[in-house]
Amino acid sequence: MTDAPHRLADLGVIVVAAGRGERLGAGTPKAFTELGGRTLIEHAVRTVSALSEPGQLVLVVSEARAAEALDIAAAVPLDSRWTVSIAHGGRERHESVRFGIEALHDGIRTVLVHDAARPLTPPEVFERVAAAVRRTGQSAVPAVAVADTLKERGEGGTVSATVDRSALVAVQTPQGFPLDVLAAAHQTAQEREGGASDDDAPTDDAELVQRAGGTVHLVEGSPYAHKLTRPADLLMLEGLLAGAAGAPHGARGAHARTEEGSR
Ligand code: CTP
Ligand code: MG
Repeated sequence: MTDAPHRLADLGVIVVAAGRGERLGAGTPKAFTELGGRTLIEHAVRTVSALSEPGQLVLVVSEARAAEALDIAAAVPLDSRWTVSIAHGGRERHESVRFGIEALHDGIRTVLVHDAARPLTPPEVFERVAAAVRRTGQSAVPAVAVADTLKERGEGGTVSATVDRSALVAVQTPQGFPLDVLAAAHQTAQEREGGASDDDAPTDDAELVQRAGGTVHLVEGSPYAHKLTRPADLLMLEGLLAGAAGAPHGARGAHARTEEGSR
């Protein structure tokens, strides 16, 4: 190819979208439900299309939805230097991530793992996380301060303590890793999986890296990265989407999502 970029794309973005969405209860897998007239998968592809560098996008979806996911991605104008791949989902989120890792091309060095369930995450958060991974050579996750007062549940439905909130943050996605660090952490977890109970299942990728002794850096997250889990979250996200269309914050992400007309 004559117009090959000077630096080959080394960024991989894995979007995990193979969950069933049981808590949302929409009757369709969550990533294929709509927010503002677009599926969550489409929101994710559009956000990736707004990034300032190219790479490989891996959509992890259930086998039955693979063709539909490809169609959705194909309809989004994506820089031609991006490649889109499909991986089949696993039973648990971490297994879906593992299948996503296996679908990455040679040459990918930095990987971002993102929940399709966070459809309004601004592209700036992806870029902040990727930049932190490259700067430190270690892992990085976006985080926001915890707003609620946190208490520990004691016996008989009483409070046993108030937790010091100052040291706590709520963590979002995309979470970023040097690919070798993430692949090794998943490999180690898979080898140990036999003996592990469900209670011990990691709830994010950073946890796997932490268990393997790796350092995870915190970067600034965004209220727009709110996760769609239950029906009430849909109302919150609809509010964020409506607000983003007219507000300066969330600028590029909101713009990318609303440029084709005022929804
Ligand atoms: N996910 C996945 N594969 C799984 C489970 C989850 O790819 N086996 C993805 C989901 O599609 C979602 C993200 O991981 O984008 C976060 O998971 P969650 O919010 O729990 O989504 P669901 O598992 O779909 O929802 P629920 O737990 O309510 O069924
Ligand atoms: Mg789940």
